[in-house]
Amino acid sequence: MAPKINGLGIMPEDTRICVVMVGLPARGKSYIAQRAQRYLKWLSVPAATFNVGNYRRENAPHPSADFFDTNNAEGERQRRAAANAAVADMLKWFKSGGVVAILDATNSTKERRKWVLERISSEGIEVIFVESKCDDEELVMANIRDVKATSPDYVGQDPEKAALDFRERIRNYEKVYKSINDDKDEDHLTYLKIMNVGKKVFINRIQDYLQSRVVYFLMNLHIRPRSVWLSRHGESMFNLDGRIGGDATLSHRGEEYALKLPELVRESVGSDRPLTVWTSTLKRTIATARHLPKHYNQLQWKALDELDAGVCDGMTYQEIADQYPEDFQARDEDKYNYRYRGGESYRDVVIRLEPIIMELERSEDILIISHQAVIRCIYAYFMQKTQEDSPWVPVPLHTLMKLTPRAYGTELQSYRANIKAVSTWRGKGSTAKHEDPAPEGGI
Ligand code: ATP
Ligand code: F6P
Repeated sequence: MAPKINGLGIMPEDTRICVVMVGLPARGKSYIAQRAQRYLKWLSVPAATFNVGNYRRENAPHPSADFFDTNNAEGERQRRAAANAAVADMLKWFKSGGVVAILDATNSTKERRKWVLERISSEGIEVIFVESKCDDEELVMANIRDVKATSPDYVGQDPEKAALDFRERIRNYEKVYKSINDDKDEDHLTYLKIMNVGKKVFINRIQDYLQSRVVYFLMNLHIRPRSVWLSRHGESMFNLDGRIGGDATLSHRGEEYALKLPELVRESVGSDRPLTVWTSTLKRTIATARHLPKHYNQLQWKALDELDAGVCDGMTYQEIADQYPEDFQARDEDKYNYRYRGGESYRDVVIRLEPIIMELERSEDILIISHQAVIRCIYAYFMQKTQEDSPWVPVPLHTLMKLTPRAYGTELQSYRANIKAVSTWRGKGSTAKHEDPAPEGGI
C-alpha cells in the first residue's frame, strides 16, 4: 500500500480515525477538539472537526434549557437530526481524503455512543471515544462564565441569565448522562477518559500508532494560565552581510539586544516569576540569552537550530540565485516544501519541532530564543497559519513576542526593543540583501 508521509511519520494509506468527544456541556470538549485539530493539521494530517452544536443551531439557534430535556420530543428529534447531519457530512469528508475527524458533541448516553460506533465503524473507520469528565463545580462555573454565556446560543441575552440557563441545560444532560464504561458494559470501546483536566486518565484498547499519538497529545494538554515567549537571536554578523545559516556571533547591535532582553522580558512577564529559557545550540541564540537572570533555567535544543540550508549555507540570496537559479525559483514557488540540497525544508523543520510542541503543551512559562524559520513554524502552530503563508511571515529581529493560549485561540503581543537591526525578510523573487521595509502583519 502506498504510504502517506506527514509529521507523524508514515501511516498506512487506509488509516482513518474518528475521535468522538463525550461529556457533559462545559467540560472542555470543543477546546480539546480544537487543540487536537490544530496539532494534526500543523503536522499535515488532514483533520477536521464536526460540531453537532453548529448543526443544531441551524434549526434551533437560541434554545432554552428545556430544549435539552429528554422528555421534550421535538427537542430530541431536532438533536438527533443534527447528529445525523454532522455524521453524514463527516463520512463525506472521509471519502474526500480526510484522515482524522473529531465529532464534537456530548455523546453522553450509551445509546448514542452505540449508534455512533455502528454508523462510523461500518465505514471501516476506527473510533476513539475521548471523554472529559469534570466534577470540579468551580471550574465548570468558570467555563460557563468564560465561554458559554457569550456563546452564539445566547447572543443579545444578559450573561447572568444565560449562565443560569446553561446550568439548567447541564442538569437536563445529567439526568441521562453515563460516563463511558461506568456500567462495565462498554469495555469493547476504544477510549481515553480524562478526569478533572488530566488529574487521572483511563486508557482502554488504544491500538495503533496514530491513535496512540493522538492520545498522548491529549494527555499532555493543561489549562493552567501561561504564556510562551518567542524571540529571534540578536542581529548577527551574517545578518549584516545578508548571509543565511552559519554560526556567526552577534553584531554590536545584537549585543545591545542581548543586554536589553532581560528588561523587555520583565516588562512583558509583569512579575518576577521565573521563566524557563530554551535556546538553539548555535552561538547567536546562546549569546542572546546570556544576560537573562541566573535563576532562569536554560536548556539548549538541537531541534531549535535554524533551518539547514545545505549547500547554500553561508551564501547570500543573490549568490544562491546566481549559482542555483532553478532551486531559487523552486523555493519561491513552494517555499514550505522546497528542501535545500543537502539541507532542510520548512516541512522538515516542522517535523523536528514536534517534540518541542509536545513539551510546550506540557509546560508552563517558556521563553524560546531561536531563528527566523524555526520561529515561523512555532508561530504557525499557535496562530494556525497555512503552509502557504507560514514561510513568509515577517519575524523582525530585536522583537519579543508573547503568545497566550486562550479558550479558542492565541493572543499575541509584541514588544519592540527599539534597537535598530537589518531586515532579513525576503519577498518572492527578490535577491535584495536587506529588503526594507518588510511588510506589515506577522509579528
Ligand atoms: P458544550 O458541550 O457546551 O459544547 P464543551 O464541553 O465543548 O461544551 P468548551 O466550549 O470546550 O466545552 O469549554 C471551554 C472551556 O473549558 C475553556 O474555558 C477551557 O479552559 C475549559 N477546559 C478545557 N479542557 C478542560 C477539561 N479537560 N475539563 C474541564 N474544562 C476544560
Ligand atoms: O537570514 C536569517 C535566517 O535565519 C537564515 O539563517 C535562514 O536560512 C533564513 O533566515 C530563513 O528564512 P527564509 O526561509 O525566508 O529564507
